[in-house]
Amino acid sequence: MEQKLNLADSSSRGPHNALLATNGRGHGRGGYRDQTHVTKYARGDNKDKVVVVGEMKLEKMLSMKGGKGEGSYVNNSEAQAKHARSMVPLLKETLDLVKLGPPDLPFVVADLGCSCGSNTIHVVGVIVKHIAGRYESSGQDPPEFSAFFSDLPSNDFNTLFQLLPPLASSGGGGSLEDCLSSTTHRSYFAAGVPGSFYRRLFPKMSVDFFYSAFSLHWLSQVPESVAEGGGAAYNKGRIFIHGGKEAAANAYGKQFKSDLAGFLKARSVEMKKGGSMFLVCLGRTSVDPTDQGGAGLLFGTHYQDAWDDLVHEGLITSEKRDRFNIPVYAPSLQDFKEVVEADGAFKINQLQLFRGGSPLVVSNPDDAAEVGRAFANSCRSVSGVLVDAHIGEKLGEELFVRVARRATSHAKEILELLQFFHVVASLSLAATCT
Ligand SMILES: C[S@@+](CC[C@H](N)C(=O)[O-])C[C@H]1O[C@@H](n2cnc3c(N)ncnc32)[C@H](O)[C@@H]1O
Repeated sequence: MEQKLNLADSSSRGPHNALLATNGRGHGRGGYRDQTHVTKYARGDNKDKVVVVGEMKLEKMLSMKGGKGEGSYVNNSEAQAKHARSMVPLLKETLDLVKLGPPDLPFVVADLGCSCGSNTIHVVGVIVKHIAGRYESSGQDPPEFSAFFSDLPSNDFNTLFQLLPPLASSGGGGSLEDCLSSTTHRSYFAAGVPGSFYRRLFPKMSVDFFYSAFSLHWLSQVPESVAEGGGAAYNKGRIFIHGGKEAAANAYGKQFKSDLAGFLKARSVEMKKGGSMFLVCLGRTSVDPTDQGGAGLLFGTHYQDAWDDLVHEGLITSEKRDRFNIPVYAPSLQDFKEVVEADGAFKINQLQLFRGGSPLVVSNPDDAAEVGRAFANSCRSVSGVLVDAHIGEKLGEELFVRVARRATSHAKEILELLQFFHVVASLSLAATCT
């Protein structure tokens, strides 16, 4: 069940040859933006201090759960892997649109929001192999490849780098073909780039292909109007916008659009002429932003109830709960399209809503406890770090025990209803953009 909006042909632009390994931020298009970091204290009550998580603060602490424990992203990203695999044909269509440069210059690929699991390593392997195949079928030797793994600085890059297979030696040992077909070695130079993808990450015209999966629905910040009391958008009683006030959901929508605009501006500067990108983020089928679809079910039902449990049991105050907001927004196709069109630097090759399926991977669907645990681990792997920062690890533990308990008693319904949709965008630098 897919909604297609647009299908256009590729644009061919001349090759470019700038490449520098850097994580620097530049000015100009996609350069620095104003930062907000607001810390306030409620009625002089130190115990319950109001922390409005501003852009700088959120990007300093946001990450998927690192390490290799039960609630880690490494051990809870099989669903994303499955969803990404189903999109490989679309990814390859976008790769076929990239203008190939001269083979004596490296081909540069960047995964933005790579996280710390093996999904990013797998997809970079697919990209490199496909592009190498294109060079070979045009009768040329493939170039060297450079892959940048980029995420926020708090990402567990150590775990990621440990998962990277060793670099295959292209001289002496085996042929480049052998390297490219190898699953135990990588055929690209790898580097990590820490920083927010809502700003500049790479030098001008240095990247051939950008990939970003399951990341752009993370907002750069919770809008102040949602986190602070007093206004119409204050998200009182809730930790997510799903099923909440229209004003709160609209504030999230506005933040999403401004973030995506920043992302596109930065990429339009960094992309080589003839470059393309493939973007996947959570999406929703409803026009109503208070209906966040699968993300709404994940964060706005049993997870919400578990937060309420902590309040009712006197473990946290209701104000403490109210100040926690999941900084995720699942856009509609229209939300996404509006921003790309307003930016104007990219041509839309494809923009569609893709049914991803369930975010839960369970071996025995009849085992309610396993479903409950998978639900809680799924919430924890993506938001556990924020939870721990807000209420501490001990209470975080209590929270996810309650999430699992509640999800266990709704296991059947969860398996039936919890479905993710993704916005999938294939974009190429528009011919007019320099
Ligand atoms: C669910 S993970 C996706 C991981 C990976 N792409 C995959 O396919 O499994 C989302 C990632 O987006 C990253 N992220 C969120 N906001 C970001 C930002 N502003 N800049 C860079 N990365 C960000 C998070 O840190 C996290 O690692």
